[in-house]
Amino acid sequence: MQMQYTPNFFDRLVFDTDDLAAVGYVSSSTHVLDMLSLTCLFLQAYRNNKLHGITGLLFYDGVDYGLILEGEKWQLDRTKASIEKDGRHCIRQKYQINSLPDRHFDDWHMHFDGAGAIAEMFPRYQHALHEIGEHRATDVEQLMSLYRTDRH
Ligand SMILES: Cc1cc2nc3c(=O)[nH]c(=O)nc-3n(C[C@H](O)[C@H](O)[C@H](O)COP(=O)(O)O)c2cc1C
Repeated sequence: MQMQYTPNFFDRLVFDTDDLAAVGYVSSSTHVLDMLSLTCLFLQAYRNNKLHGITGLLFYDGVDYGLILEGEKWQLDRTKASIEKDGRHCIRQKYQINSLPDRHFDDWHMHFDGAGAIAEMFPRYQHALHEIGEHRATDVEQLMSLYRTDRH
C-alpha cells in the first residue's frame, strides 16, 4: 500500500510539536461587522482553532479587536499567517511570546456585544460566546494584562 504524505505530516517532522508560543494583536476593523458577519467570523475561528489546538480569546467592541492566541508553534504560525492577511482588520500592534511553559487558556472564546443572542441560536457554542462587558484592549499592554488575569 502506498503511504499518503500530507503537508501536515512534514510539518510535524520539522517542528517540535511540544513547543508552545503565544501571540497578541490589537487591530482596527476595516468595516463594522453585522451579526451575520460576526457569526461567520466566530464559527470560522472556532472551528479552525479547535482543529489546530489553538486556545485564547478574541474581543470585538465594534471598532477594535484584541486577540490572544496560544498553541504549538507550527500550528500558531499557520494561523498567524491567515490572520495577518485578513482584510477584515488592520493590525496596529503585535506582541509575541516565543516560548510558553504552559497554556493560560483551556479553550478559545470570543467576546462581543450580541454574543448572547448568537449563543441562544447556537447553544452548542454557548461556552465560547461572551458579551464584551468591561473587557477592552486598546493596546497590547492592556491585552497582555487581560492575558494574565482572564485565565480560564
Ligand atoms: C480579528 C480576527 C481574528 C481572527 N481570529 C482567528 C482565529 O483565532 N483563528 C482562525 O483560524 N482564524 C481567525 N480569523 C480568520 C482568519 O483571518 C482567516 O480568515 C481564517 O483562518 C481562514 O480560514 P479558512 O482557511 O478555514 O477559510 C480571524 C480574523 C479576524 C479578522
